[in-house]
Amino acid sequence: MCGISRSLKNVPKTSYFITTPIFYVNASPHIGHLYSALIADASARFQKLINPSINILFSTGTDEHGLKVQKAAEANKMSVDKYCDIISNSYRSTFQTFDVGHTSFIRTTSDRHKKCVSRFWDKIRPHMTEGKYTGWYCMADETFLSEDQIERTNDGVRVSKESGRPVEWAEEDNYKFDLRPFKEDLQNWLSDPHRIKPKVFHDILCREVNDLYEISLSRPKSRVDWGVPVPGDSGQTVYVWLDALVNYLTVSGYPDGGFWPPDVHVCGKDILKFHGVFWPIFLIAAGLQLPKRIFVHSHWKVDDEKMSKTKGNVVDPVGAGRAYTESGLRYFLLREGTAHSDGNYSDVKIRRILNSELADTMGNLLNRCCGKAINPHLIYHKSNPEAFMNLSTDPNFRELDQRLNKLADVVAGHYEELNFYKGIDEIVATLQCCNRFFEHNRPWELAKSDDLDKLSSILHVTLETLRMSAITLQPIVPALADRLLNKLNVDNRNWDQIKPNWIDNNEIVNPNCLQNKNIILFKRLIIS
Ligand code: MSP
Repeated sequence: MCGISRSLKNVPKTSYFITTPIFYVNASPHIGHLYSALIADASARFQKLINPSINILFSTGTDEHGLKVQKAAEANKMSVDKYCDIISNSYRSTFQTFDVGHTSFIRTTSDRHKKCVSRFWDKIRPHMTEGKYTGWYCMADETFLSEDQIERTNDGVRVSKESGRPVEWAEEDNYKFDLRPFKEDLQNWLSDPHRIKPKVFHDILCREVNDLYEISLSRPKSRVDWGVPVPGDSGQTVYVWLDALVNYLTVSGYPDGGFWPPDVHVCGKDILKFHGVFWPIFLIAAGLQLPKRIFVHSHWKVDDEKMSKTKGNVVDPVGAGRAYTESGLRYFLLREGTAHSDGNYSDVKIRRILNSELADTMGNLLNRCCGKAINPHLIYHKSNPEAFMNLSTDPNFRELDQRLNKLADVVAGHYEELNFYKGIDEIVATLQCCNRFFEHNRPWELAKSDDLDKLSSILHVTLETLRMSAITLQPIVPALADRLLNKLNVDNRNWDQIKPNWIDNNEIVNPNCLQNKNIILFKRLIIS
């Protein structure tokens, strides 16, 4: 049994289906939304890199129904469809600006999605009952809450304990769905510790399983008419979260698509319960397979405070991209974002990291290899076997050699788990090691001596390090990695090329020279 599962693990995947949450169109995208999308994008790019023939379905999109959106359109004095078009397009264009390579962009207002919701409703309808709901509704979170899930603020306002957002009393006829009969099935699914990552969120869900209850799956049309009508009951609208979750089936081509189930759902910690409790239970009720993995990420704060419109500290990704370049912002978010705990966005920090890692550690190393004094003919130097042998006594080279030989495997392990920051850590440590190696060997002095064979070997090792680093960075900063690989004249950029070619690099670089064009890989940012 063990042997079978081990060998199955090694069979290359033929397809990869990864999703982001679909974004509410009640406001424009911010860096937190972009972060969700970047995690999925980096993962999809990595899968393609290790397995170029893989079929990728990477979906994202906008969640356009429900009271919150209806009210946002009213507040903006716009028809709701026009309002949805505008915000949905701003997501689409932001993602394009940041090279988010989704293969599907779904809008819940599309006909194909509405059809899918109706079909799914019919599937789970036998598990529903009709009845009165009395309780609290939090419009900002689009969720029903029980008495013990709310509290009063000092001003006496009732709010959700979890999100702190206001709630309103609801007394209405709804279609209800009891989650409790599915407890055992849910527990079975959760019994695999890899199901929900990071572990902290798996632990939270395992506790939630003991606290299942009855939920409402519709709202009276008189209260919410911006939504999918309940099939066969024109007086009711499908609950926006059911509508939204079904987007994952719509993009898979349900009921005919071959992509189901998803390999990974990426979602933020605030919507864990919807993805880790409601969604698997709905799928069980519909007799469908469950997602293989859910990757939950924490949130971005700004200068240690929660981002909020009232505080006016919401960071617009497009503006930040202009200030730091799109590659710079991608790099920062994936380098500093850790899934298990909140990240802190600050202008000082972003500048410091980008200057130190992209401009100095990587950019400057490239410049030095292309400097007139040591590489006047811009050659991708070969290594002289004898001079190269002599390097083996250099402790910096020995460390670099060790790092480069395991770089592909170590980084792949982290990327596979969507822990991009750990992969980037390895790459940066390798580049730092290469900088020490370069400094220590003083190539600018060798250029003036007659030890040109040694100079060639130093340049060869350094260029090889840059080549491998650039290949591994492709999922993180595709545009920047592309510029670096162009400069190095590297055609084959697949993952299997991340291995040092110490003695002869003829096969990988043709012709054997660097691009004769000056590039600044990353322009230093001014720290005020
Ligand atoms: N529409 C629902 C999701 C439905 S999926 C079937 C929704 N939308 S949202 O626009 O409010 O949030 C979308 C994603 O952005 C969520 O994963 C959420 O966690 C994430 N983020 C919202 N604020 C964030 C930060 N400050 N930081 C990081 N991610 C953040 O929920």
